[in-house]
Amino acid sequence: MKKLLALLLALVMVLGLVACGNTAEETVEETVEEVEETVEEVVEEVEEVVEEGGNLVGVAMPTKDLQRWNQDGENMKAQLEAAGYSVDLQYAANDIATQVSQLENMIANGCEVLVIASIDGEALGSVLDQAKAAEIPVIAYDRLIMGSDAVSYYATFDNWNVGVKQGEYIVKALDLENAAEGTTYNIEYITGDPGDNNINFFFDGAISVLQPYIDAGILVTPSGQTEKAVVATPGWATDAAQARFESILASYYADGTQLDAVLASNDSTALGVANALASSYTGNYPVLTGQDCDIANVPNLLAGLQAMSVFKDTRTLAGKVVEMVDALMQGAEPPINDTETYDNGTGIIPSFLCEPVACDIDNYVEILIDSGYYTAEQIGA
Ligand code: BGC
Repeated sequence: MKKLLALLLALVMVLGLVACGNTAEETVEETVEEVEETVEEVVEEVEEVVEEGGNLVGVAMPTKDLQRWNQDGENMKAQLEAAGYSVDLQYAANDIATQVSQLENMIANGCEVLVIASIDGEALGSVLDQAKAAEIPVIAYDRLIMGSDAVSYYATFDNWNVGVKQGEYIVKALDLENAAEGTTYNIEYITGDPGDNNINFFFDGAISVLQPYIDAGILVTPSGQTEKAVVATPGWATDAAQARFESILASYYADGTQLDAVLASNDSTALGVANALASSYTGNYPVLTGQDCDIANVPNLLAGLQAMSVFKDTRTLAGKVVEMVDALMQGAEPPINDTETYDNGTGIIPSFLCEPVACDIDNYVEILIDSGYYTAEQIGA
């Protein structure tokens, strides 16, 4: 853009010379040549700028506070740029109004595709209608955007399967299949933000595996807090998770009652649970689940303070979204592998689901380090 301004300035100057009118005939010819050359350069530069604008992709991420969104954003930007696109990447500090205004700017700036990891899947409102009116395809990233027919595609992990893997881990770790007659195990639950559609899949997927043991009276919950709405955590916040678990431990486990398992939907909530356990629980350590393999949680994974996490390779998801964007830009069909699961209230949104992988102390080297996702130094291994 600076180059463009400099060229325009040069053009104005040579035109000024011509306008002065007191130059010799030869000089006039030279000047005309110069003007022509400069005009050509200006035209080329303008074409480049227009070309870049025509390749602009808006990527709206919820927050920089959680490691995974930084990784998602950076991976997508790098891969989109490598594919020749320009990227407007924005983080909204978990503030819905900020995300809405970022999206308005993206639309105004000529983004041709929007990739949105929403803060609250139900709260984006009319900005999506603006995108639709401008015929800008919207790809919901990781979290489904609800109640809007402006959503064209959804790219995520198999969120139900994330929950299933957490549930299966608990069943195996407590050997529930072989539980002796009359044995009971105490389990508590925690999931994430009520405005995040993913919690329905994480939580219900896990419960689908645990339900037979709940029905048989093998898994019991001393706090009585089993409803999804009750075990939700606004903003997926670690301190809110910690506060809730400190209160549960003080009320139901302070008398020496054993806590056997905690189903935590992700790592930021698992961290809060682990902090609460460290400060106010002295019994045998429970099986604690998580998701994301956040750097902050890996030390707990290695120290036996969090039994497992679910690894979701953000490089894979970013790669898939780049394929989707590329297809849309070329007027082709984006890759899709699910047309049944994700209804956002306006109908099924065609989706691509990546596979999550259960990660624990036995396979973390292969999953996290050998795959090049983290260096050993990064995770203190
Ligand atoms: C994502 C999880 C993440 C959580 C909190 C969910 O929508 O799928 O990977 O842990 O949000 O950011």
